[in-house]
Amino acid sequence: MRMFALMLMTLTACAETPKEATAAVAAAPAKPATAAPEAASAPVGPDGPEGIKVPQLGAPSTEVATIAAGERVFADRGCGGCHKFGSKLVGPDLTGLFARRSVTWVARMVSDPAVMVKQDPQAKAMFRSLMVEMPKQNVPEADLAPLLAYLKAQGG
Ligand code: HEC
Repeated sequence: MRMFALMLMTLTACAETPKEATAAVAAAPAKPATAAPEAASAPVGPDGPEGIKVPQLGAPSTEVATIAAGERVFADRGCGGCHKFGSKLVGPDLTGLFARRSVTWVARMVSDPAVMVKQDPQAKAMFRSLMVEMPKQNVPEADLAPLLAYLKAQGG
């Protein structure tokens, strides 16, 4: 009989734990809403979040030397590990890139993908379907124009 009572107590104790755990989980989502308010305040237009500062770039250059410089940036920054032209790899197929995105949008995506997937609706949608977040590759500002020229020359 004593044994039975002990078992009952143990069972009751176990039954309480999930309740407490559920309550803790339910209370948790209140916190992230207040995270990074400064990043959330900048407007997001068709060119991406204005909070990501990028140089004003014209149409991608068609100069052979610039494209060659961009090819080196693409290789050095490891872009090819995740992107191809003609098919999807880890990241999206970059073919037709400039038909669907503006030059500034691409420059912002390359410069700060973490902010893009949080704030830009298109980047967010890609992240939701691919479930991989593009890492920041620390591309220097001066390398953006050649890199974009290379992307365009490859059919981007
Ligand atoms: C570890 C994999 C990875 C690396 C490395 C990477 N990317 Fe990405 N890239 C992604 C993923 C995944 C996305 C889709 C957005 C997301 O989920 O974060 C993406 C999105 C993009 C887009 C937008 C594509 C579209 O269709 O709008 C561009 C442009 C891009 N990457 C260029 C680059 C360039 C240039 C580099 C090198 C500097 C690079 N990426 C490095 C994974 C990667």
